[in-house]
Amino acid sequence: MRLTPLHIHSQLRDYAVTFESSSDFLATLAQAPHTVFVVDEIVWQTHKQGALQAIVDHPAYFTIPISEDVKTLDGVSAVYNNLMKMAPKRNLHMVSIGGGITQDITGFVASTLYRGVAWTYVPTTLLAQADSCIGAKTSLNYGAYKNLLGTFYPPCAVHILPDFLATQQDEDFYSGLGEVAKLHLIGGQTMTENLNTALPAIQTRTLQPLLQAVYNSLALKQHYIESDEFDTGKRNLLNYGHCFGHAIEAATHFAIPHGQAVVVGMLMANAVACKRGTLSAPLEAMIRTSLLQPLLKTNVAALEFEPAACVEAMTHDKKNTGRGLSLVMLNNGYAMTKIDDMTNEEALNAFTHLRELIPCLVA
Ligand SMILES: NC(=O)c1ccc[n+]([C@@H]2O[C@H](COP(=O)([O-])OP(=O)(O)OC[C@H]3O[C@@H](n4cnc5c(N)ncnc54)[C@H](O)[C@@H]3O)[C@@H](O)[C@H]2O)c1
Ligand SMILES: [Zn+2]
Repeated sequence: MRLTPLHIHSQLRDYAVTFESSSDFLATLAQAPHTVFVVDEIVWQTHKQGALQAIVDHPAYFTIPISEDVKTLDGVSAVYNNLMKMAPKRNLHMVSIGGGITQDITGFVASTLYRGVAWTYVPTTLLAQADSCIGAKTSLNYGAYKNLLGTFYPPCAVHILPDFLATQQDEDFYSGLGEVAKLHLIGGQTMTENLNTALPAIQTRTLQPLLQAVYNSLALKQHYIESDEFDTGKRNLLNYGHCFGHAIEAATHFAIPHGQAVVVGMLMANAVACKRGTLSAPLEAMIRTSLLQPLLKTNVAALEFEPAACVEAMTHDKKNTGRGLSLVMLNNGYAMTKIDDMTNEEALNAFTHLRELIPCLVA
C-alpha cells in the first residue's frame, strides 16, 4: 500500500507529510547545500549502518542524547552551540531525526535561530509519526513544568519511514499507541472499533495496519489543527488524557513515558465523566477493557505519586481558564467536551477511583 502524502495547511507555512518506502530521501537531503543533520543519539547508533547510511560521511551532522531533562533551555543551548560550529548562516537547513523530544528541541531551535531557519523533520517513534509531527508546536520543560515554553513553527517537510518503528523499545512504542488510541477515540465510534479490530496486528508491528493507524491518526489530527491552528478552541480537545497525564508526568519527574501518562489520563477523565453522568458505565468499561488497559505497559504500580501533589500540579496547568480545573472529557456518543469547572475534590476522587479501576496501580 502506497499512501498519498498529506498536505497540511498552516497559516505560517503549508507542508507535506510524505510516506516513504526507502531511505533514499535522506540521500537527496544529504546532497542539498547547507544541510545540517541533528540526530537522536540512540537512533544514530541503531540505524547508522542502515537507514542513516547516507549521513555517515556527511560533513555536517551531530547527535543529541535524549531525555526529558534535555528538553530544556540548557538542552537547546547545546544545539545552538553545535549548529554555530557547523553552519553559522541563515540559509542553513536543519534536518532533525528522532522522536518527539528531538522534534521539540530542534523545532524550538529552528524557530528561534535567526528568527527562523529551514527545517525538515524525520520522526522515528510511533508517537512522533502518528501525532506530534504535525501541528507545529515546539515545547520545552521549565523546572517541574511540562511544556511550559514553546513556539508555533511548522517544519518545511515531514518524511515518515516506518522502518524506524521496528527498533523502538516496547515501552516507548506503547507510549505512541496511547496517542494513537486518543486520536481514534476522538474520531468516534467507527474509528475506535476499527482500531480495536486492528490492535493485535498493530501490537506485533505488522507494517500495513500500523501504517494505516499512523495515517488515520494524522488525518484526524489534521482536521483539528487546520480549524484551530493556534489552540484557542477546538484544538483543545486533542488534550484528552493530557490534563491528568501532565500532572502524573510532573509528579513522577517524567518517570512514565508521555503517551503512557496519557492512557492513565484518559482512564481518569472517563472516570470523571462517568461520575458526572455524561459517559455511561458500559461505554466507559468497554473503552477501558478493550482498548486502554491493554495499552498500559508501564509498571504504574512501581511509580510513586501522591494524589494530592498531582492535583496541586493540575492547578498550575496552563489550560485552566475557568472557575476550576480544566478537563477534556469523552461523553456518550464519543462527544468530546472541555469543562473548566472540575473541582479539586473531583480530581482527587479520580485518582482514588483509578486505583480501584486498575488493580495494578495499587502499590
Ligand atoms: N510537539 C508536539 O506537538 C508534541 C506532541 C506530543 C508529544 N510531544 C512530546 O514528545 C515527547 C515524547 O516523544 P516520543 O515518545 O516520540 O519519544 P522520545 O523522543 O522521548 O524518545 C523515547 C526514546 O526512544 C529513543 N528512540 C527514538 N526513536 C527510536 C527508534 N526508532 N528506535 C529506538 N529508539 C528510539 C529515544 O532515544 C529515547 O530514548 C514528550 O516530551 C512529549 O511531550 C510533543
Ligand atoms: Zn501528547
